[in-house]
Amino acid sequence: MKTNVGVVFGGRSVENEISVITANQAIQAMDKEKYDITPIYITKTGKWYSGEALLNVDNYRDTKKLLSMCEEVYMRPCYGDTNLYRVKKGLFQSNVVAKLDVVLPALHGTNCEDGTFQGIMEFCGIPYTGCNTLASANGMDKITMKMILKECGIPVVDYCWFSDKEWDDKKDVTVANVESKLGYPVIVKPANSGSSVGIRAAHNREELLDAVDYAISFTNRVIIEKYVQKLKEVNCAVLGNYYECTPSVCEVPVRSGEILSYQDKYMSGGKQSQGMRSTQREIPANLPDESTAFIQQAACDTFRALDCDGVARIDFIIDEATGDIYINEINTIPGSLSYYLWEYSGINFSELIDKLIEIAFRRKQDFGFKAVNYGGNIFAAKSAGGSKTGGKFGAKTGGKF
Ligand SMILES: Nc1ncnc2c1ncn2[C@@H]1O[C@H](COP(=O)(O)OP(=O)(O)O)[C@@H](O)[C@H]1O
Ligand SMILES: [Mg+2]
Repeated sequence: MKTNVGVVFGGRSVENEISVITANQAIQAMDKEKYDITPIYITKTGKWYSGEALLNVDNYRDTKKLLSMCEEVYMRPCYGDTNLYRVKKGLFQSNVVAKLDVVLPALHGTNCEDGTFQGIMEFCGIPYTGCNTLASANGMDKITMKMILKECGIPVVDYCWFSDKEWDDKKDVTVANVESKLGYPVIVKPANSGSSVGIRAAHNREELLDAVDYAISFTNRVIIEKYVQKLKEVNCAVLGNYYECTPSVCEVPVRSGEILSYQDKYMSGGKQSQGMRSTQREIPANLPDESTAFIQQAACDTFRALDCDGVARIDFIIDEATGDIYINEINTIPGSLSYYLWEYSGINFSELIDKLIEIAFRRKQDFGFKAVNYGGNIFAAKSAGGSKTGGKFGAKTGGKF
């Protein structure tokens, strides 16, 4: 019996297209002897579709035509129902497209990678690869992520943060706070963006005002960090779970300007983008052994501190002026699932997916032992103020509730 894997991609996210590439790469790599694959594409407006046509990346040039070749589908958020249903059922057709055994979210960005999709999987009670809801949410929000890491003694650059309401409400105080805490230059980021979208450096107050307005056009929470001027970026992926986590080799992505841009990440290969595979990179990173060891250890510490599972990529900043190494961010569903890092680390893409699926089943099994009932039915217990005793909220008292 093969395992039926629902591979989910797209989504209401600025990284919708990148996710199509990640999913396509993963599907190509999956062992077809072991897995039946059900591709599920979430459109930019949030509708779900399934169909063979989703497997050809060229079809995404004309999404209207693509969707006309697919069928609209949905899942029911009811525990134990792991079916994928069709919205429009033919006369002699089942309403079930597939019964899924496990889901592989190949989604990036907001409304996808941030725990929202993982929450649906929890509701359905279906095993899914990668981080759980909380790890995904914390991993996506650069503010809570940095708070947790700081609390755990893992080094992050100095930062401050505020909401768009605070910005509108007391701009002067907020600007003064940024200037006194960090000075210039700073880098301004939407708290939950990805792929460098919405991020700008600011070298003075005027640029800060512009950069914050730009960031809040994408989201409601903004993080401002000290801009590390002489920086080297190093990425390291981690695979596993709490019990066993393995760091990959490190890579140095190559950037063309002040920040590693969307173009550097996805469009520097010339021909059709291969997602994160397109980034120009030095791999393995040419670093002193002690820096590599520090980064690999800090990557695993970060993975554990945030309670991650599956594969995540942890991105570091080395301040070349001081030699200090900081965690910049975690990507809980990294572009291309970081398979190019694992290939260098002796795990091919197909094996990587096998491991992700194993870890997903293991987590589901572990959580099966956790209590979801406590103390029986309080409404049936005599002492609990049921109708006989007429407690505060009981029928006899005719209470408000
Ligand atoms: N504190 C910083 N100092 C200097 N450059 C930075 C800093 N933080 C981020 N960058 C640059 O901006 C890029 C995008 O920032 P990052 O936090 O990784 O956001 P994203 O989630 O969009 O990838 C980084 O790859 C790096 O080039
Ligand atoms: Mg980044």
